[in-house]
Amino acid sequence: MLKSPKFLWLIILILLVALGFLTNKFILAGNTIPSKDDRTAILVTSDERIMILGEMRGFLEAVQGIVEATAEGDLKTVAELATETGAQKPDMSASLMGKLPIEFKSLGFATHDLFTELGKTAKGGDPVAVQKALGDLMLNCTACHAGNKFVVEGSPEAMGDN
Ligand code: HEC
Repeated sequence: MLKSPKFLWLIILILLVALGFLTNKFILAGNTIPSKDDRTAILVTSDERIMILGEMRGFLEAVQGIVEATAEGDLKTVAELATETGAQKPDMSASLMGKLPIEFKSLGFATHDLFTELGKTAKGGDPVAVQKALGDLMLNCTACHAGNKFVVEGSPEAMGDN
């Protein structure tokens, strides 16, 4: 039996510190190392990298389609492409979610939301508003690329040569 309330407080304190540590490790910090080009290198498995880069190429294809359709005055296609891309949430495992730093996740989710918003803007029928919204959306692409890269766990790059 635990007789002293002080002892209980100590256990609570230890649990809180452990909780803080785990929150930081699995929700906030992600699994990262520094990189030579001053970006954050996020360590993922080869399959996870392939999955996310596939999503990235989907983003680029959507942007290409949106720019072309806007130039052709076809905002119906823009609305479809943007809404579709906004709704395509990547199939992320809990393990991958834990490896991505919180800023990365919020920027990624926000990008999907901006595509959904772009779809609504396109339905408004103003091509200049679409171009402006796309330019703003692409700040998410450039901001995230400026600060992050992927490195495969266990590869020579993961030992620091990246
Ligand atoms: C939350 C972060 C993030 C956002 C937002 C983001 N990307 Fe990326 N993207 C990355 C990372 C990280 C890489 C890998 C870079 C590396 O390893 O050097 C990447 C790679 C890519 C690649 C290369 C794919 C390949 O096969 O090598 C393309 C194309 C790309 N992104 C397009 C986009 C476009 C277009 C957008 C915006 C609509 C976008 N990305 C938004 C993080 C992001």
